[in-house]
Amino acid sequence: MNESDSELVRSLLKQQGFVFTEDRERADVLLVNTCAIRENAHNKIYAHLSELKAVKKQRPLVVGVLGCMAQNLKTDLADKEPIVDVLAGPDSYRQLPSLLTTALEAQEQGLAQKRFALDLSEYETYEGILPDRDSGVNAWITVMRGCDNFCSFCVVPYTRGRERSRDPESILDEARDAAARGFKQITLLGQNVNSYRYGEWDFARLITAVADVSEIERVRFTSPHPKDFPPALIEAIATHPRVCKHIHLPLQSGSDRILELMGRTYTGAEYLALVDRIRRAIPDIVLTTDIICGFCSESDDDFQATFRLVEQAQLDSAYIFKYSERKNTIAARKYADDIPDQVKGQRVSKLVEIQRAITAERNRRYIGKTLPVLIEGDATRSPTQGMGKTDGNITVVWDKSTGHPGPGAMVTKHIFDASAATLYGE
Ligand code: 5AD
Ligand code: SF4
Repeated sequence: MNESDSELVRSLLKQQGFVFTEDRERADVLLVNTCAIRENAHNKIYAHLSELKAVKKQRPLVVGVLGCMAQNLKTDLADKEPIVDVLAGPDSYRQLPSLLTTALEAQEQGLAQKRFALDLSEYETYEGILPDRDSGVNAWITVMRGCDNFCSFCVVPYTRGRERSRDPESILDEARDAAARGFKQITLLGQNVNSYRYGEWDFARLITAVADVSEIERVRFTSPHPKDFPPALIEAIATHPRVCKHIHLPLQSGSDRILELMGRTYTGAEYLALVDRIRRAIPDIVLTTDIICGFCSESDDDFQATFRLVEQAQLDSAYIFKYSERKNTIAARKYADDIPDQVKGQRVSKLVEIQRAITAERNRRYIGKTLPVLIEGDATRSPTQGMGKTDGNITVVWDKSTGHPGPGAMVTKHIFDASAATLYGE
């Protein structure tokens, strides 16, 4: 979502005559788009800002912090980090060109005044702003902003504000524009896509209409909430050849007590029943998840319930996080962050270990099969190897000598080996 927002910011600034440079040495303005979801995201930004301090000592520079961390820490951040001149939250990017212009003028006059735009809006969807997209195979399209779920651990409702859906016609215009510019894949983004509503439109209708745009090879989406997965969306994934058979379905915990404290409104059994319902309708679906370890008061028994659920669900892969208390959230106000960091770490390691074994086993089912693969580019480890994704979003690598027409091409690869991270094709 931040990558998508950065493309939006670039477009807004270019429209006002700002010119972007890849060369940091030439920039008058440096913008850092930030995430607040967990503490380590914060730490990365503080490290980045201290690096910029050295740059700002050498020459005049306007430094802007954008995004969720700006929104959540507000003036705290500006007070603690004297190098920050401008703060703009996720709903305030339209004000950014004028904030930067006045900050640049103030700097010329030797004034060190800080500028903020941190109002959350119930309506802002940046309608009519076509993002300045990073080139590549995938185009992000944000279909809704904000979230009204208020899961107790999560900062998003406070940093991105109330939930609002974009006009489907403008989403379809964007999809057609991306297709005309050669993007082969579209990923629809929203904090909880199942709440997408615009007049008669729901998310199943929207994704089907986007997938009907000719020239697009694949449509993905992230993320749905397990509490309200509609049959019509399962149907769309099952039947539309261009809607990818991958669902990222955040579990968070397998303990009903913890799920309730988290405000997730489903039980472990309901999650498993949903997985079962999806698999019966779409046998070759790839299911991935997010899990938090060490949420407030999580006992060994609670953790065991999560472990057992992970074993039972046999999902294709999982992102597993230590719980990290976020300022302003319900959990921060109501519950103690009482699980020692070391215990959180041990629980994460145990889950990572079992999930890794499950993932490796799941990936072995592709050995001997021939799969369509959308090429993304070179493998990270070796420029002699190509890399792409299966329909289910699993990474495939191959020796380029076995066939590599280049990024954006759809090829078929025969899978001869598999690990927990990668399928090996030819
Ligand atoms: N601590 C740890 N993980 C979190 N996530 C969201 N908030 C927190 C938090 N406070 C995780 C959830 C979510 C993913 C995007 O980040 O698992 O699904
Ligand atoms: Fe956060 Fe819950 Fe909203 Fe996801 S659904 S963004 S976890 S509040």
